[in-house]
Amino acid sequence: MGRVAELAGVTVRTLHHYDEIGLLQPSTRTAAGYRAYSASDVERLREVLAYRRLGFGLREIADLVDDPATDAVSHLRRLRGLLLEQRDRAAAMVIAIDRELEARAMGIRTTPEDQLKVFGAQLYDAIGSAYPATRRTEPRIAARIWDALGDARTVLNVGAGTGSYEPPDRDVTAVEPSAVMRAQRPLGAAPCVAAAAESLPFEDQSFDAAMAVSTVHHWLDPVAGLREMRRVARRVVVLTYDADDTGWRQRFWLTRDYLPEFADLLVGWPSLADLTHAVEGRAEPLLIPWDCADGFFEAHWRRPEAYLDEHVRRAVSVWTRVGPEAERRAVSTLHEDLSSGRWAERNRELAALDSAELGLRLLVA
Ligand SMILES: C[S@@+](CC[C@H](N)C(=O)[O-])C[C@H]1O[C@@H](n2cnc3c(N)ncnc32)[C@H](O)[C@@H]1O
Repeated sequence: MGRVAELAGVTVRTLHHYDEIGLLQPSTRTAAGYRAYSASDVERLREVLAYRRLGFGLREIADLVDDPATDAVSHLRRLRGLLLEQRDRAAAMVIAIDRELEARAMGIRTTPEDQLKVFGAQLYDAIGSAYPATRRTEPRIAARIWDALGDARTVLNVGAGTGSYEPPDRDVTAVEPSAVMRAQRPLGAAPCVAAAAESLPFEDQSFDAAMAVSTVHHWLDPVAGLREMRRVARRVVVLTYDADDTGWRQRFWLTRDYLPEFADLLVGWPSLADLTHAVEGRAEPLLIPWDCADGFFEAHWRRPEAYLDEHVRRAVSVWTRVGPEAERRAVSTLHEDLSSGRWAERNRELAALDSAELGLRLLVA
């Protein structure tokens, strides 16, 4: 054990711990009767340590290395993909830091939004702990997604977050770049790989279907990510929104009357046609029920008081991305309009609606 620990650069205590929790138990004995690591134990140790270095938790690692469907070569390929992705991410962060250093040297302060944007999933490392308070599977939306998955048995959930919308009756693998989000996946949730959509560490056509819910707008390169989903799966189902149709932004009172800054977040966002083209599929409108259980940005369209609640806002990245000033102004104006009856007067017609079309689209391919 000492020799293996020395070679692997870990302490004997670590190996004892892995043994105790059943993650890695030496399977042979020396002539003197001591427990010893076989060649396949060492192979497993290498996998465990590599996943550990990539930021996986021990429970996640146990699920990964125990998966009978993944042999040593598949693990090596997956690890290679994950490490390349980590390298690319580190390179992108160095570039972003250099840019900010340059800007600061010239006396320019970047906005909080710019600082977060360049780090991609880092946004969710910053805000993700507030997510589970109000974000969960909305059964009516889940039914549409699961229906679109057809008879897929193996499903990849990209930008999986805490696991909402993962179908319970299929073999799901999750992909989630934010360690904070991964750590909040419930016990017994599908195994989760630390990776980004733009570079999925899987071989072509490895899944029956790939799904992505409320995540595409966070990707650094949405079209590249959608093409990746198409590459690794035969069927693709994506819940996103139509940013070209400015009509619905006018119809949604929150962006129209209180938070026009929302429009800035959509600058440079690919058109629905580009997204649909990237998955080679079609876009279907998805209405939001008035009592939607998942607290995404538009969810409370008929329950305006909800937006006054800090917990509701902290679980939606839009509020962080528009910056604290816009948020404060929007919330206080809404508060005034709710108290004075102005909101009710302006939005009288909503009380009669059970669901609303606010630009959500289901891309199916
Ligand atoms: C609004 S959450 C949605 C999570 C989950 N799909 C759901 O419906 O609750 C967006 C997720 O996308 C993840 N994300 C950000 N950039 C990503 C990327 N490049 N590839 C994959 N996921 C990414 C974030 O870390 C975050 O967990």
